[in-house]
Amino acid sequence: MAKYIASIDQGTTSTRCILFDHDGAIAAQAQMEHEQIFPKSGWVEHNPEEIWHNTRQVCADALVKLDAATSDVAAVGITNQRETAVVWDKTTGKSIYNAIVWQDTRTQRICDELAGDKGADIYKDKVGLPLATYFSGPKVRWILDNVDGAREKAEAGDLLFGNMDTWVLWNLTGGTDGGKHYTDVTNASRTLMMDLDTLQWDDDIVKDMGIPKSMLPEIHSSSEEYGKVRERGPLAGVPIAGILGDQQAATFGQVCFEVGTAKNTYGTGNFVLLNTGEEKVMSKNGLLTTVCYKIGDKKPIYALEGSVAVTGSLVQWLRDNLKMIDSAPQVEDYAKEVDDNGDVYIVPAFSGLFAPHWRPDARGVIVGLTRFNNRSHICRAALEATAFQSREVVDAMNADSGVALTELKVDGGMVVNETLMQFQADILGVPVIRPVVSETTALGAAYAAGLAVGFWKDEGELRKQWAEDKRWEPKMDKDKVKWLYSKWNKAVQRTLDWTD
Ligand code: G3P
Repeated sequence: MAKYIASIDQGTTSTRCILFDHDGAIAAQAQMEHEQIFPKSGWVEHNPEEIWHNTRQVCADALVKLDAATSDVAAVGITNQRETAVVWDKTTGKSIYNAIVWQDTRTQRICDELAGDKGADIYKDKVGLPLATYFSGPKVRWILDNVDGAREKAEAGDLLFGNMDTWVLWNLTGGTDGGKHYTDVTNASRTLMMDLDTLQWDDDIVKDMGIPKSMLPEIHSSSEEYGKVRERGPLAGVPIAGILGDQQAATFGQVCFEVGTAKNTYGTGNFVLLNTGEEKVMSKNGLLTTVCYKIGDKKPIYALEGSVAVTGSLVQWLRDNLKMIDSAPQVEDYAKEVDDNGDVYIVPAFSGLFAPHWRPDARGVIVGLTRFNNRSHICRAALEATAFQSREVVDAMNADSGVALTELKVDGGMVVNETLMQFQADILGVPVIRPVVSETTALGAAYAAGLAVGFWKDEGELRKQWAEDKRWEPKMDKDKVKWLYSKWNKAVQRTLDWTD
């Protein structure tokens, strides 16, 4: 009897393979970071070949740690940084350009042209998203317009497009030798090209984008057998049976199966997702409507999403660009040295501002500085920026749903930061709850794969596995919260008038 599900989590900064046992506990894991490439201001790229190499390596490393055999693994699940776009040649298997990452803003002109007089919400009724640089469609268009010979090749049917789930799946299932060119509904819902009702590519939008349809992957559910690993190595022959974009995977891993349940993941950015069930709720307050998951033949479940581009990556920026800290956890050590932010606010609009503002022209600011301030205030302001940005999207969610959130489940790398978690509870005014397994992204993809192969029976069985580790209750005086949040809003205003 197979004892584990392998989950491949291809994220923005690293790729991981985690083996989960039947109780949903982590049995072994391996991780590799990949290079962040910044060729110009506003441009962010990854090398797809490096990512594929790392994927193979972490799978092998995780299995070696357990001394596990192929027969010990029942299925593989894939979860991934969403929207990041790769275009490759189906004959050589090589990418024709680096992957353009979700944070990249180079497609602003393409988005403006597509929007024309109709504005950024031109496709929103169909796809649930505003026309923004964040999503994949315009990135594919940019590659076809800017890489020598790409358009001719695409029109001849020689090129394939995929988000990272598709790139990994295609390679795992044989690549140039019959690799499956599939995606799942959650990833497809981030391209700006999938109709949320039919769950198929929308021909008119695809045409507007100028992308030959032959490049697009076939859209499948999030939980079914897509194919078997053909790559030689420790996972050879194991079925790949789950695919979910990472934020949807975290929602699934947090067992947010009921309408009205929500989670916030603290990663490179922050992403709050609220399960709205079979109903597709259109936001009036700057949130996205997206597919939450679709299990096999069952009906799709939708979500409202508040996407914040820069949170954890602000801490990395303090470490790598400003050299203010040596390691990410040090941000908390410094933040704790002061009682408050010393009136300093950082609004990290490095990729413009995402939800609820959708202002690609916004640029980051640090405001409120006096000679009194020091590194500790900056570190504290960086953590607080994460909490304030989460508050903005939770407020939008409350307004859209008409029901105030009563608690927030959290996960992701930054939830070990107790100072941040307490401040988050204070600023939201509701309890913040961390589960025992905070790797809910990988767990969600494992759950999707495990359900498809009968490793787990149903969602009821998964629900029983969720266990609370710690909760933070709001403690701060309400007037103080109000005052801090009003200062934050003033700081946000400062980001909006920078570009000419
Ligand atoms: O939409 C972008 C998101 O999927 C990236 O997530 O965890 O890699 O920052 P993460």
